[in-house]
Amino acid sequence: MFKIGLFKPKCLSIDLGTVNTLIYLNGELVLDEPSVVAIRNEPGSLEKIVVAVGKEAKNMLGRTPGAIQAIRPMKDGVIADFSITKKMLQYFIRQVMKQGFFSPSPSILICVPCGATQVERRAIKESAVEAGAKEVFLIDEPIAAALGAGMDIGESAGNMVVDIGGGTTEIGIMSLNGIVYANSVRVAGDAFNESITKYVRREHQVIIGEVTAEKIKEEVGSAYKSSAIKKAKYIGRGVASGLPTEFIMTNTQTLDALREPLTAIIAAIRVALEQTPPELSSDIAESGVMLTGGGALLEGLSELIKTKTNLDVHIADNPLICVAHGANMALEMINKQQMAFVSAE
Ligand SMILES: Nc1ncnc2c1ncn2[C@@H]1O[C@H](COP(=O)(O)OP(=O)(O)O)[C@@H](O)[C@H]1O
Ligand SMILES: [Mg+2]
Repeated sequence: MFKIGLFKPKCLSIDLGTVNTLIYLNGELVLDEPSVVAIRNEPGSLEKIVVAVGKEAKNMLGRTPGAIQAIRPMKDGVIADFSITKKMLQYFIRQVMKQGFFSPSPSILICVPCGATQVERRAIKESAVEAGAKEVFLIDEPIAAALGAGMDIGESAGNMVVDIGGGTTEIGIMSLNGIVYANSVRVAGDAFNESITKYVRREHQVIIGEVTAEKIKEEVGSAYKSSAIKKAKYIGRGVASGLPTEFIMTNTQTLDALREPLTAIIAAIRVALEQTPPELSSDIAESGVMLTGGGALLEGLSELIKTKTNLDVHIADNPLICVAHGANMALEMINKQQMAFVSAE
């Protein structure tokens, strides 16, 4: 039961995403859970009791009885509810820490969206300290995304990353381990789901929930015209009848449905390119753009960005774990004192 490695200092790197939270412990991915918390409001009290966190809580989304609420505290890329985000982060940290006895307090590195305010950064840091961290480092998400995607951001050349998560799309241009340009727009995977939901209601007169919209996006979602037809059958509630109703969605229809959020993401990428110093722009013209985050898996997205920006577009090997992987690399570099780009508070 007692291993030699038991007293080894523990290092945790955390990607606290709007949809998924991932944790690396000493170089290994040990947690990948939805960023969802189910809470119960105590009658006659303001206190919120946590009923479930992660996968168990996600199963309750849209299905909770009156007194219980399943929420995504990071939904908009900012901390909507400090106390619940804190509880979620602490729950996840404790879950991975309980794997050893007498273990010393861990060093924790957490990725924060570049749009996070000082107050939010401090709250995230405090939560980790309260969960038992010895020291806490914060790093801006585009840096972790770039490292995780294997980009060499230490050189004096422009590197561009577009991370499309659930709540936000983070655009970062980096050079010499620092951020030259960063912007965060609140249009990403959730906005894709909402556009699909609206489209289905308008075109098929059927009401669907978030889970079905996400399924449609993953199965027949499309960002670029294709000659291959993809279609599938789904079920929702008929607007007029109120009864379960079947409808068919095709990739041509999702292309139509997703036009608005996709246009917003393209516009944000163009603004980033316009605001980049010319020398770095020419580097980016050579090296292209790296896509990370779950949104990078939307079919045809790289073709769309390529057509609209004239840049080469690469998709990171594993877009959903790329940021967490990069955070782990950053922490290893900090431990070896090879890195000084930890975000200021
Ligand atoms: N195959 C897919 N096609 C399109 N979107 C996807 C696919 N797989 C996952 N996603 C979307 O990716 C988003 C989650 O990505 P993630 O990078 O984990 O977000 P965050 O970092 O904000 O937690 C969700 O909106 C999810 O629907
Ligand atoms: Mg993310």
